[in-house]
Amino acid sequence: MTLSGDKSLSHRAAMIAAMARGPSHLANFSNSQDCASTLECLHQIGVSISRDGNSVKIIGQGLNGVAKPAKALDCGNSGSTMRMLAGLLAGQEFASELTGDESLRSRPMRRIIEPLEMMGAQIAAVHGKPPLRLFPCGPLRPIRYELPVASAQVKSCVLFAGLYAHGRTSVIEPQGTRDHTERMLRWYNAPVETNEGINGAAEISVTGQSDFNGRDTNIPGDISSAAFMIAAAALLPGSDLAVKAVGLNPTRTQFLSELQSLGASINVNEVHEDCNEPVGNVYVKGGLNPPSKQQGANKVSGKLIPQLIDELPLLAVVGTQVSGGIEIREAAELRVKESDRLAATAQNLRAMGADVEEYPDGLAVSGPTRLRGALLDSHGDHRIALAFSVAALIAVGESEIEGASCVAVSFPGFFELLETLVVR
Ligand code: S3P
Repeated sequence: MTLSGDKSLSHRAAMIAAMARGPSHLANFSNSQDCASTLECLHQIGVSISRDGNSVKIIGQGLNGVAKPAKALDCGNSGSTMRMLAGLLAGQEFASELTGDESLRSRPMRRIIEPLEMMGAQIAAVHGKPPLRLFPCGPLRPIRYELPVASAQVKSCVLFAGLYAHGRTSVIEPQGTRDHTERMLRWYNAPVETNEGINGAAEISVTGQSDFNGRDTNIPGDISSAAFMIAAAALLPGSDLAVKAVGLNPTRTQFLSELQSLGASINVNEVHEDCNEPVGNVYVKGGLNPPSKQQGANKVSGKLIPQLIDELPLLAVVGTQVSGGIEIREAAELRVKESDRLAATAQNLRAMGADVEEYPDGLAVSGPTRLRGALLDSHGDHRIALAFSVAALIAVGESEIEGASCVAVSFPGFFELLETLVVR
């Protein structure tokens, strides 16, 4: 099996190609609704884009080669689109407005407004939430900014704004987050540098006002989409799954390590770099065989959380199937994703008969538990619909997921693909 291109990488490739000079061909661009939102917004600001299936051609006109949009830019459900595009737009000589669907309009934006305002940007929001209105503000000032939340979206927003500032803008990351922006800026030969600071905190810097050229870019399969297939295969004894040419950036693969430590048989091979990103194949054999000398409860917290942030609801589902269950802590960020993912996960797991303790910053599930089919609520959140499709597969009896069509936000064709994989 191969999967459509990684969503995180596709957003970045499109935006960086739009800021570059000249053509970039993006191969295996994500087929997700979120990435379509990014392309549509870029089109609205005058970027030349042509798309033929998964192949996207963007002709950038340089950092200032974008134009005032005729209407508010609709980012749909996509937090990445809004937060990263705000960085690209904050230093422009025209006003713009970023909005989105109901879920996105309820998500916190102070985390990007604060650093952008420190750079001199003029931004209006409604109690720190979208719509965001960005006003012309003159040249941006460079800043040195320590991230108060471990967020790759905020890091990328500040780095993109830094490309417009006069001087060197740095972001200090006390906890590592996905490093796709840094890798891709490097791929485009943009002036970016990463240094290890004190206590392992990385400092990522860009030098503003330097042009860089377009570049052809291959996007690996989406590891966060693959995670659902991999978990399903691991949980169903007798399964045999191969996911080829999938992104294996170490800032994204913690979920695979967690599954392995819970006893899943997962092997990775042919890892190589393509366009500065690690890519390889993942093989899964069904059935969990936990290490016999396992000590204590399974717990995920701290610095590991940003490394598997999008896979945590799925990890909670897997946790119901292992001895000792699983505890996820220091993950309050999950409450401000496309839905409150801690509440949605707890509610759906309980509906299936699982024993769940919910905390302000996480949850604990007992295991092993036989899940029962149930009426489940996606809360309009793609990762919840996907995680509970896996739960439904391993449950006894029938489940129905309300609002399951939201899977297309990240994984169009998920159910159809699953049909082709499941042997009855
Ligand atoms: C993303 C980063 C994560 C993740 C989101 C995509 C990215 O968000 O949850 O799905 O592409 O940078 P945060 O960085 O805000 O945690």
